[in-house]
Amino acid sequence: MSIEQASALLASARSALFITGAGVSAASGIPTYRGIGGLYSEKGTDEGLAIEDALSGWMFQRSPEVTWKYIHQIERACRGARFNAAHAAIARLERRTPRCWVLTQNVDGFHRIAGSTNVIDIHGDIRRILCTRCTYEAHVDDYAHLAPCPSCPECAAVLRPDVVLFGEMLPLEKVEILRRELAQGFDVVVSIGTSSLFPYITGPVLEAARSGVPTVEINPEETTISTAVSVRLPMRAVEALEGILSRIEPSS
Ligand code: OAD
Repeated sequence: MSIEQASALLASARSALFITGAGVSAASGIPTYRGIGGLYSEKGTDEGLAIEDALSGWMFQRSPEVTWKYIHQIERACRGARFNAAHAAIARLERRTPRCWVLTQNVDGFHRIAGSTNVIDIHGDIRRILCTRCTYEAHVDDYAHLAPCPSCPECAAVLRPDVVLFGEMLPLEKVEILRRELAQGFDVVVSIGTSSLFPYITGPVLEAARSGVPTVEINPEETTISTAVSVRLPMRAVEALEGILSRIEPSS
C-alpha cells in the first residue's frame, strides 16, 4: 500500500480514470465544502437554512436571490485562484496514458486550464452563465461585475451559473459520456480529494474494485471508499501526485 504501487499501476496503465473533488483544488487556496475550514461547516445560513437548501434547485426557483447570495460567496472564495501542481500532474499523466479521463465534481474549471482535455465536469462550470428563459449564455472570468441576482441582457429573465444545484438532475450528455467510458472499462481508477458522497462518484471506484480492477485513493482523511480501494495514500493531492509523477518520469 504505497506510492510505489500507485506509480507502478499508473506507469503501466493503458487507460485511467481520475475522479476528483474539492481536495484537488485545496492547494490553490479554494476551501473545500466539508471538513475543517469547509464552506459548509458554518451552522446554516443567515436565512436559517441548511446550505444545501440555500443552494438547491427549488430554492433557486422560489427565491433566486438567496441561492445567488451563496453562489457569489463560493465564487468569491475561488476568485484569483490558479490551478496547482495536482491539476498539472493529472494533465501530464493524461498525455502519457493512451486513454485517460477526468471525472470532476469541481466547478472551478482548473483541470481544463491545466491541460486535461478529456474532462467530465459533472457539476458544471461556475464561469459559464446561462439564461433561465432564452438561449443567452456567457463566459465570465469572475463575478466582480455581476449583480447580486443578475438578469439576462437579452430577455431580462434571471440568469444562473451552469452548475448543478442540490436536487437537480445531472446533465444528461455528461452522464452519457461517463456511461460510455465506464462501459469500455479502465486499467486503473484513482479517486483524489473527494469525500465520496454521491453514487455516481463512488460507483465507478466500487464497481472497479469488485471486478478486480486496481483502485487508488488519495485523501488525507478516510472516506466511504477507503476500505474498498487497493492502494490508499493518506496524503495531500500535490504531494501524492508529484511523488507518483517523479517515479514514473524521474527526469521531469
Ligand atoms: P468535500 O468538501 O466534500 O470533500 C473534500 C475532500 O478533500 C475531503 O474528503 C478532504 O479530506 C479532502 N482533502 C482536503 N484537502 C485535501 C488535499 N490537500 N488533498 C487531497 N484531499 C484533500 O468536496 P467534494 O467531495 O468535492 O457539489 O464535494 C462534492 C460536492 O459537494 C461538490 O462538488 C459540491 C458539494 O456540494 C456541487 O456543487 C453540486
